[in-house]
Amino acid sequence: MPAARPGPVRTIAITGGKGGVGKSTLAVNLAVALGGLGQRTLLLDADLGLANVDVLLGLQPRATLAELIAGRCGIEDILIEGPDGILVVPAASGRRSMAQLSTAEHIGLVNVVSSLENALDVLVVDTAAGLNDSVLTFCQASQEVVLVVCDEPASITDAYALIKVLARERGVARVHVVANMVRDGNEGRSLYNKLVRVCERFLADISLNHLGSIPHDDWLRLAVQRQQPVVKAYPASPSARAISEIAAQTARWQAPIAGRGGVEFFFERLLTRGVPA
Ligand SMILES: Nc1ncnc2c1ncn2[C@@H]1O[C@H](COP(=O)(O)OP(=O)(O)O)[C@@H](O)[C@H]1O
Ligand SMILES: [Mg+2]
Repeated sequence: MPAARPGPVRTIAITGGKGGVGKSTLAVNLAVALGGLGQRTLLLDADLGLANVDVLLGLQPRATLAELIAGRCGIEDILIEGPDGILVVPAASGRRSMAQLSTAEHIGLVNVVSSLENALDVLVVDTAAGLNDSVLTFCQASQEVVLVVCDEPASITDAYALIKVLARERGVARVHVVANMVRDGNEGRSLYNKLVRVCERFLADISLNHLGSIPHDDWLRLAVQRQQPVVKAYPASPSARAISEIAAQTARWQAPIAGRGGVEFFFERLLTRGVPA
């Protein structure tokens, strides 16, 4: 009997425009929470400039995406297992950014990831800060985009700028918004509404959805210090409960149509759409 072909994979890009808003925190904890829900989850650190997924999880990568892209190792050499059975593709800080990858390197990346034999339910991609082509292309190639925003003028402005290009230039139809580091649900809701008002002009092209709010939480900081995801270290904390709720919602999102939804197609889309730069 031939092995079953891997089925469709839901791909979720975590983005936000600005640095320091909680993208990596959400990506890591969302992935672990999905793992806890029994979803076979791959977490890809696509922030080659400021990689920190492995640090947040206390993992010691043997090799990273940088070595893989350079053709010095295979996907099986870089995959590491995180909490609750999630698989992690770590990046490496201080290396070249995706911006400097050649087409050949991208093709290599796609081929390598296509050879991944693990059946997956969901791929969570932690993107870099900024509006560079790499971030935009990862968002465009993903089935769902989750944008993290916090209540600071710079975060709202950057979120606006990102939504604008995703809507106008990348044909992204829908963005899920997570309000992070808020005081409570009301503050999260009003932050979301603020963003909706700012983006009014694009709302014909793109729909925004308030996916949830994560409170500012000292338990989360403590978990970061312990290099553990807060959903595991302090599952009853306010931030862990909020992230678990978000994970439960994303777990209900529809998988793509079988056949064109595999993880290899995610990378194929990255390639054909002018690839992360
Ligand atoms: N809900 C929260 N409560 C408290 N601290 C948070 C929260 N979310 C993120 N942080 C902290 O904010 C900082 C930036 O988070 P990070 O996830 O690295 O942001 P990004 O990936 O967007 O640059 C980290 O020190 C992180 O621990
Ligand atoms: Mg980050």
